[in-house]
Amino acid sequence: MNIVMVASESLPFAKSGGLADVVYSLSSALVSKGEKVSIILPYYQQIAKKGIELEYVAQYDIRMSWRDQAVTLYKKEEEGIDYYFIANDYYFRREKMYDYMDDGERFAFFALASTEAIRYLKEKVDIVHVHDWQAAIIPTLVAENYYKDPTFAGIKFVLTIHNPAFKGMLDRYFVSDFFNLSDYLFDIGKIRFEGMFSTLKSGIIYSDVITTVSPTHREELLTREGGQGLDTVLEYRRDDFYGILNGIDYEEWSPHKDPFIAKKYNKTSLEIGKHLNQADLLRSYNLHWYGGPVYGMVSRLTWQKGVDLVLEEARSILSKGGNFVLLGSGEYEVEQKFEALRTQYPDTCGIYIGYNNALAHKIYAGCDFFLMPSLFEPCGLSQMIAQRYGTLPICRKTGGLADSVHPYDGVISGKEDGLLFEDYNIQGLDYAIYRAEELYRNQEGYYKVARVAMNQDHSWATSAKNYLTLYRKVLKKK
Ligand code: ADP
Ligand code: GLC
Repeated sequence: MNIVMVASESLPFAKSGGLADVVYSLSSALVSKGEKVSIILPYYQQIAKKGIELEYVAQYDIRMSWRDQAVTLYKKEEEGIDYYFIANDYYFRREKMYDYMDDGERFAFFALASTEAIRYLKEKVDIVHVHDWQAAIIPTLVAENYYKDPTFAGIKFVLTIHNPAFKGMLDRYFVSDFFNLSDYLFDIGKIRFEGMFSTLKSGIIYSDVITTVSPTHREELLTREGGQGLDTVLEYRRDDFYGILNGIDYEEWSPHKDPFIAKKYNKTSLEIGKHLNQADLLRSYNLHWYGGPVYGMVSRLTWQKGVDLVLEEARSILSKGGNFVLLGSGEYEVEQKFEALRTQYPDTCGIYIGYNNALAHKIYAGCDFFLMPSLFEPCGLSQMIAQRYGTLPICRKTGGLADSVHPYDGVISGKEDGLLFEDYNIQGLDYAIYRAEELYRNQEGYYKVARVAMNQDHSWATSAKNYLTLYRKVLKKK
C-alpha cells in the first residue's frame, strides 16, 4: 500500500505537541510492516535551520486569490519514510510554526500545495491520510476540483481528528478565492459551520473514513456535551467514524535506554532509578527536597490541559512541602502565573517555560506523579510516557486518559496504574491527590502500582495494525 500523510507537524523535523509524535510513529510502524509511507510537511524556518541536505523535486505555482505563490517541493528520505517539504518563504520562513494572524491563509496554501505535490510522487497513491484542520480540506479539493484528473482516481481519504477544538474556521471568501470551490457548497451547508467555512467539517463530510485518537473520545464527540459542536455532523458519519488509541514510540521513550536521564533503569531497578533520577531532576531545577512527593507536568500551557486546576493544586502541594516542576509553553498569562508561583516557592517549585526534549525525559523519569487534569484529551501521550517510566499519572477521566489509566482508589488489586478523577473542579483533583499521597506513604504499594504502569503495552504495534485494517477496509469501499 502507498500511503501519504499530510500534517502540519511530524518528528523528527517539527513538533509542538502529540500530533508530531503520532504522525511519525504511525508512519514508522507502517513502514516496518512493509508499507510505503510519505509525509508532506511545511518547510518551516526551524527545519531550514537544521541545514539538512534535501533533494529538489519540483517547482510550481499556487493561485492564492489575486496572486500566485511559488512552491518548491523538496524531499528527504529518512528511516524508510519519504518526507516531502512544501517550501515558500512568505508563508513559512517565520520564527514559529503557528499563531500568526494569517494562519488560515498559510495552511490553505499548504493544503493546496500538498494536493498538487501528490502528482510528483513516483508511485500511484492508495491512501491520503490527512491530520487535523490544516490538511482536512484536501478530500474536498480532490472531490470537487480534481475529479477528472487520473492522478487522483481511486485514492481513498482518511481524516484523523487529533484536536476538535481547532476547526479551521475561515471567512467564506476562502471558499472561492483561495480554494476555487463553489459558493454553492457553502450555501447548502456542506462546508459551513456556525456561519463560517470550516476545513475540519468539510473533511468530516468528504473523507471516506474519519478517526479520532481514542475510543472514548469517539464516544464523547458523538454527544452534545463532549462534541465541541461537531456531534451532529459526526452523527451523520457515525458508521465511518472510528476511535483508535495512539501508542508511544518505545525507541524514544524507554527508561532502560534513555540517553537523556541520569540513571537508566528497568522494572527491577525502578526504586534506585527513580531515586537517582529524582535527585538529578531536582538538581537541574536547583530545588530542595523536604521529603514529600515530587509532582511534574510537561504540557502545552492552554486551557485544554487543566492549567487552572494545576495552578491551584500546585500551590497546595507546595504549601505542604512537596515539590512541583513544570515544563511547558503556551498562553502568555498562564506562563506568567506559573512564574509567579516559582517566585513564591523558589526552593521547591521549578518552572521552565519553553520547549526542551531532554528536560521532558528527566521529568518523566524523576517525578513520583505526573499531573494531567485535562478538560478534554482526545488521547494524550504524556500519561502513557509517564507510566512507561513508572511515574503515576493523575488524570481527569476523559478521552484517551480514561482509556489508558486504571485508577488506584484505595485498594491495590494488581490492575491499578495511575489515578483518575471525574469532575472538572478542584475538589475532584484534590481527591485524586489525597489518594496519591496515601499511596506515596505506602512505598511498597506505590512501587507495586508503578510496576504495573511500566508493564502496560502502549507500543504502536496494536494501533498501527488497527490503522492498516482500516486502510484495507476503506480501499474495498466503492
Ligand atoms: P498535545 O498533543 O495535546 O499537546 P499529548 O499528550 O498528546 O498532548 O502530547 C504532548 C507531547 O509533547 C508529549 O510528547 C510531551 O512530552 C511533549 N511536550 C509538550 N510540551 C513540551 C515541552 N514544553 N517541551 C518538550 N516536550 C513537550
Ligand atoms: C492532540 C490531542 C492529544 C493527542 C494528540 C495526538 O494534540 O490534544 O490528546 O494525544 O493530538 O493524537
